[in-house]
Amino acid sequence: MFQEKIIELLSKETSLKNELIEEILEIPPRMELGDFSFPCFALIKKYKKKPVEIAQYLQKKFSEKLIKELEKIESKGPYLNFFINKQLLAKEILQINASFGKQNIGKKKKIVIDFSQPNIGKPMHVGHIRSTILGDSLMRIYNFLNYFPIGVNYLGDVGLHIGKLIVAYELWLDKKALQKDPVKELLRLYVKFCAEEKSEVTEGTEEEFQDNEWTNKAKEKLRLLELGDVKAHKIWNDIRKHSEKGFNKIYEILQVNFTETVGQSQFSDKGKEIVLDALKKGIAKRETDGAVYVEYQDKSKEVRKKFILRNNQTASYITQDLGAAVLRNTKYKFEKMIYVVDFRQSDHFDSLFSILKMLGYDFSEKCHHLSFGAVKFENEIFATREGKVILLEDVLAKTIEKAKKEIQKRKTAGSPEKVGVGAVKYMFLKNEPIKDISFSWDILNFEGNTGPYLQYSYARASSIIKKAKNTNIKLEIPELSQSEIALMLKISRFPEAIRAAGEKLNPALIANYSYELAQLFNEFYHNCPVLTADPKLKSFRLQLIESFRTTVKNALHLLGIEVMEEM
Ligand code: ARG
Repeated sequence: MFQEKIIELLSKETSLKNELIEEILEIPPRMELGDFSFPCFALIKKYKKKPVEIAQYLQKKFSEKLIKELEKIESKGPYLNFFINKQLLAKEILQINASFGKQNIGKKKKIVIDFSQPNIGKPMHVGHIRSTILGDSLMRIYNFLNYFPIGVNYLGDVGLHIGKLIVAYELWLDKKALQKDPVKELLRLYVKFCAEEKSEVTEGTEEEFQDNEWTNKAKEKLRLLELGDVKAHKIWNDIRKHSEKGFNKIYEILQVNFTETVGQSQFSDKGKEIVLDALKKGIAKRETDGAVYVEYQDKSKEVRKKFILRNNQTASYITQDLGAAVLRNTKYKFEKMIYVVDFRQSDHFDSLFSILKMLGYDFSEKCHHLSFGAVKFENEIFATREGKVILLEDVLAKTIEKAKKEIQKRKTAGSPEKVGVGAVKYMFLKNEPIKDISFSWDILNFEGNTGPYLQYSYARASSIIKKAKNTNIKLEIPELSQSEIALMLKISRFPEAIRAAGEKLNPALIANYSYELAQLFNEFYHNCPVLTADPKLKSFRLQLIESFRTTVKNALHLLGIEVMEEM
């Protein structure tokens, strides 16, 4: 809102780029330092003066013909401090409507977001939920910025675990159990197989090479599957169908949608084509055993060897990712592609992007790995019968159950699903993606930086509006108090928060914005009587509360969190 005007003013005078000014512009720590502050260091070259002198010069220059959006400008040391016109601020804030925050930054340009990506035949784990929630929030943010986000759920439908499951399915399947709870039955089969095999439940590459009777059976099934064996294929399809049913149950609870859902396996052929091309170009080399590799420079400029085709000529994880990336580029001509994947796959994406670049695919510059940290569980609150695996379904069910108890205890209204799911999503999103998270039941607190606190602030605002009789008094802007100004200013910064979150691929900027917003609302409500104020003041304050409601609702929407009118 006001930020745009200040950027315009600065760019006209200094010819710095808008994006750079937006990056440099600060929010001062104290009100007496203004509402926006511009440190003048970036202008030394242009004006050939000290920053302090530049600040003084610009202060004078801008003050000669002050734009109406500003009250005054001051220089303080190297800083240029802008004070915005509060009457105008109030006018703008009172006018905001349901589309507040939407802006045309993206001009419908396409952004592919590869997220969630669970593995067929295995239960989703917390890493997948973190990816799901992050990716979904990015989809919403880019929608608001008028990009055209394309959400791709890239299912892991290949790998040795599929071979293991086919063996287990033929030997031990309990059909009824599969119908009733596909995720648990498939997990049971997998765990039983691993017990026979006496190998770790977790996947590793080592096991591919060990000579184990059971592992060999799994490898054989996988080979049959790749050869198009009808029976193996039928079982694989069945596993896939049931697995997806289990995933969809979770997506429904989380209210997450994808533009497309595709299996990794579909990209083997394209991937192999790329490998052959790389061999032809001399970029890839063949080992004597037949495996194909590329030597590339990693992030720290070290030369590394990456295999892009197995010695038995089958496609591996990276072969498929090469194929998928190239096909997506052809299909979508994207502006950006974001892979929302666990930090442990950093090397994988580093090599993927480097190899694409070596092969002459310029779109590699547009690819990003949004890497996220681990999720830790305090006191093992979710240890399941199966041992190490924490089932996402159980986490969600338990959270919703706890939310229900909390709501009953408080004797309030509200939907346990919305509170529980909101609490989980908020926990994932308020932290910077790269940070580790530790899960504890504090996420359900109605106070502090939590989802329920924000939902509650919204419900509280709604109940004030409901209690107020329709006043029908013409809106006038009164003399404004500090808490009103602070709340309005914060509301006016919402569009900036969305831009920053989109640019930095970081929904935490919106989560923390929402928290600060709600705190300012509560301060305002504490300091400024509404229902008992005189009619003019009352109607102004009610309208301000309406604007707060709209803003917090939209902010939570961007995090995939639903609000309730009563709580
Ligand atoms: N399914 C993989 C896993 O669970 C993640 C896939 C990530 N996406 C990709 N295009 N590689 O580890």
